[in-house]
Amino acid sequence: MKLILLGPPGAGKGTQAKMLIERYSVPQISTGDILRAAVKEGSPMGVKAKAFMDAGSLVPDEVVVGIVEERLKKSDCSNGFILDGFPRTIPQADALTSTLAVMGKDIDAVISLDVDIEALVARLAGRRTCEGCGAGYHVVYEPSAQEGLCDKCGSFLIQREDDKESTIRNRMKVYTDQTSPLVEYYRNAGLLKTVDGMLPIEEVWSEILAVLKDFE
Ligand code: AP5
Repeated sequence: MKLILLGPPGAGKGTQAKMLIERYSVPQISTGDILRAAVKEGSPMGVKAKAFMDAGSLVPDEVVVGIVEERLKKSDCSNGFILDGFPRTIPQADALTSTLAVMGKDIDAVISLDVDIEALVARLAGRRTCEGCGAGYHVVYEPSAQEGLCDKCGSFLIQREDDKESTIRNRMKVYTDQTSPLVEYYRNAGLLKTVDGMLPIEEVWSEILAVLKDFE
């Protein structure tokens, strides 16, 4: 199962990726999570990435392409992977195709979450993430049992730095300008599967499973 999840910020890529990795026992490769971990630990890559991320802009292609190339070489990717948040530009998509070709692999499908960008601003403003284990919640759509605390590990739930409205708006613009051309790119490659991302989380999941039946 070698999949790409495509969609604007807040479309539900991370939420669906977490369910996919459990079902198919393959790793989630989230460039956003990898970059946030690098920022937290203060590595040179994290220091470089932070300003771009805080502004809601894309981190330069060569940085993220390098991250994904290294990650794909790890043994846990041998049976597949779920790419979440990568690629985000045409050069990243071209680099991914070349990297996989060298490894004798290719992508099975690209699941594009079709969403209303305006509705996503509210989704992102209500998102909370566990600072301990990284589990994701939403104050309305996916609340934790105890407000502000993670159901899985009990740590505090925090709001992401880039989930402020002005930054969210820039992230949406960046998506429209730089990432949305990938929908056509993967449609032309015959890989695109579109799913209605405005449905409730469980219904989006059912649609994804229906699409993936052909690949099982
Ligand atoms: P990244 O971490 O990838 O963020 P993003 O793409 O902006 O995506 P999000 O994580 O915001 O949204 P999501 O689609 O995963 O939604 P989620 O499932 O959490 O990137 C962050 C930054 O890192 C970028 O801005 C950039 O600077 C940098 N970066 C990362 N990758 C890069 C790359 N390849 N190139 C360059 N720079 C890169 O859901 C959101 C909320 O909605 C949650 O609270 C969830 O519970 C709720 N929800 C989910 N689905 C539904 C539903 N169906 N109905 C109702 N609520 C829902």
